[in-house]
Amino acid sequence: METTLIILKPDAVQRGLIGRIISRFEDKGLQVVGTRLMKISPELAAKHYESHEGKPFYPGLVSFMTSSPVVVLALRGVGAIAICRKMMGATFGSNAEPGTIRGDFGVSNSFNLIHGSDSPEAAKHELGLFFSSEDLLDWDRAGEGWIYDLSGDEPE
Ligand code: RTP
Ligand code: MG
Repeated sequence: METTLIILKPDAVQRGLIGRIISRFEDKGLQVVGTRLMKISPELAAKHYESHEGKPFYPGLVSFMTSSPVVVLALRGVGAIAICRKMMGATFGSNAEPGTIRGDFGVSNSFNLIHGSDSPEAAKHELGLFFSSEDLLDWDRAGEGWIYDLSGDEPE
C-alpha cells in the first residue's frame, strides 16, 4: 500500500470543488487516511516547492498557493501515487485530457486545481511536511474485501 499527498489548491476550494474532487478519489477506491483544511504559509510553500525554486513561475506559484485555504489529503491504495497523478491529468488545464480532474474542471495553466506527489520519495517528504504521524489514521474500511481481492498475500 502507498500513501500519497494531495493538495486541493486555492482555486479548487474557492470554486466549491472540494466534494466533487474527493468523490472521484473515493469512487476510484482510494482511502482517505488524513485530511486538513489550512492556509499554507510562505515558509511551508517554499519547502513544498523547493525543487522549483529559481524557475520563472516560482514566485507566482508560491503566491497562488498561499493566497487562500487549501484542503490537504493523504490517500492510500495500491499504486496510489501513480493512480492519483493519472487522475489529476497533465499539469496545464489547457491540455489536460477530458476525464481527468484538471481536464474536466479547469482551463488555466497556473490555476490547475490540484497537487499530487510524483514519487515515493516525494510522497514521504510531503506527507511529513503537512501531517504529523498522529494525523494519519490506519482504519479498516468495511468494504475493503470488495475493493481489493484480499485472498492472496497482497491486496490485488
Ligand atoms: P504539482 O507539483 O502542483 O502537482 O504539479 P505538477 O507536478 O503537474 O507540475 P510541476 O512541474 O511540479 O509544477 C508545479 C506547479 O508549478 C506550476 N507551473 N507553472 N508556468 C509554468 O511553466 C509552470 N510550470 C509549472 C503549476 O501550478 C504546477 O502545478
Ligand atoms: Mg510536481
